[in-house]
Amino acid sequence: MGPTSLTITDNRTGRTYEVPIEHGAIRATDLRQITVDGDDFGLLSYDPAFLNTASTRSAITYIDGDRGILRYRGYPIEQLAERSSFIETAYLLVFGELPSADELAAWTDDVTHHTFLHENLKTLMEGFRYDAHPMGMLISVVAALSTFYPEAGDVGDPVNRLLQVKRLIAKVPTIAAFSYRHSLGLPYVYPDNELGFAANFLSMMFKMAEPKYEAHPALVRALEVLFILHADHEQNCSTNAMRAIGSSRVDPYSALAGAAAALYGPLHGGANEAVLRMLERIGTREAIPEFIESVKRGEGRLMGFGHRVYKNYDPRARIIKQAADDVLALTGASPLLDIALELERIALEDEYFVSRRLYPNVDFYSGIIYKALGLPVAMFPVMFAIPRTAGWLAQWLEMLDDPEQKIARPRQLYTGNGDRSLPASG
Ligand code: CMC
Repeated sequence: MGPTSLTITDNRTGRTYEVPIEHGAIRATDLRQITVDGDDFGLLSYDPAFLNTASTRSAITYIDGDRGILRYRGYPIEQLAERSSFIETAYLLVFGELPSADELAAWTDDVTHHTFLHENLKTLMEGFRYDAHPMGMLISVVAALSTFYPEAGDVGDPVNRLLQVKRLIAKVPTIAAFSYRHSLGLPYVYPDNELGFAANFLSMMFKMAEPKYEAHPALVRALEVLFILHADHEQNCSTNAMRAIGSSRVDPYSALAGAAAALYGPLHGGANEAVLRMLERIGTREAIPEFIESVKRGEGRLMGFGHRVYKNYDPRARIIKQAADDVLALTGASPLLDIALELERIALEDEYFVSRRLYPNVDFYSGIIYKALGLPVAMFPVMFAIPRTAGWLAQWLEMLDDPEQKIARPRQLYTGNGDRSLPASG
């Protein structure tokens, strides 16, 4: 073991400080001892957009962006996508270990029996315009759930917390499906407790007059895989929002509504919607080179490409590409997939994207699957929010149990005016 500290010399004063290094990091608060004089607040670290700041320790999700590795609780995403179910993966994220057969049965039963919504929520949903974006509806209805479960504000009680976790994982798909049915003017379909997580979601989305809706098993499996891949991704924008809002000790419905709002943006979970709109706009393979040139001229981004952490192929994109092939084998070829494949081929050979290490991310192919499943583009970010609910909640629980966490409250470097006075009146 070499030395585990950092020696800093402050050239303003000539003084030297020794700061411990732990987990490859120094504590920003250790910089506070570095002062020029007694009035000095101490040295701050400045890191807009958290490019180089760890805001927490976490034992949930591991990413090695250079090598394209993603693991939940130590298990590689490839193995989970192949052998696990979404509900088992959600248990793993929340509790830290895979469930025994009995634990899985109890967890599945618990989540299944919380899928129904209070009937008053339907009235609330009916208040939205027919063309309301389903993500806006989801965010609002999740926030409204806090008024139905006021006891959820007692976040210090672990038993109470777990009840809200089960409710949220169970109810978000129902809200998502109801928002879709609302946009079509179709009656809401109640959950079918005999179906698994993904199969029940498809039933709530697409069931019409048939007594029981049973989606093709290959489509159900593809959706399970998509849900597993989207379940968590460590300290991304929406997870950071979940933790920051939750750090005020607000109830998890309010915090999760805020996280979902962060996910809605086109640079985050809204990217899958933006990818599909981009592919539709490009329209033909012939139009791709000119589109790439326009991106390079800075006229827009190649949506579904690039990632703050992955500077290599996003491992989730690789799995999704395979799932897209499986789904399209059933639903029929998609001209959009052809455009996406060609776009990827050209971009990965182009110096602009190569030098910036821009590769396809999780959203590049997911929208093609959602479209093949019959979902409208506006539902895509909602499809991201359903599984990410499990990750947000796992991260929220970890935050509440972390004795080092306090209310999230960054510092700023004030650059505005100094003290000044209003003009004298009259
Ligand atoms: N198309 C064209 N250029 C890009 C792209 C892109 N998709 N992404 C990054 N760049 C360029 C960017 O212009 C910059 O170039 P330069 O150095 O010449 O100014 C360089 O690459 C670095 O970009 P950045 O904006 O500093 O990178 P970031 O880490 O802040 O942003 C990102 C990451 C995901 C927001 C960004 O890559 C992006 O906007 N991608 C498109 C949107 C997208 O697909 N988002 C989904 C992310 S994965 C799902 C999720 O977790 O939400």
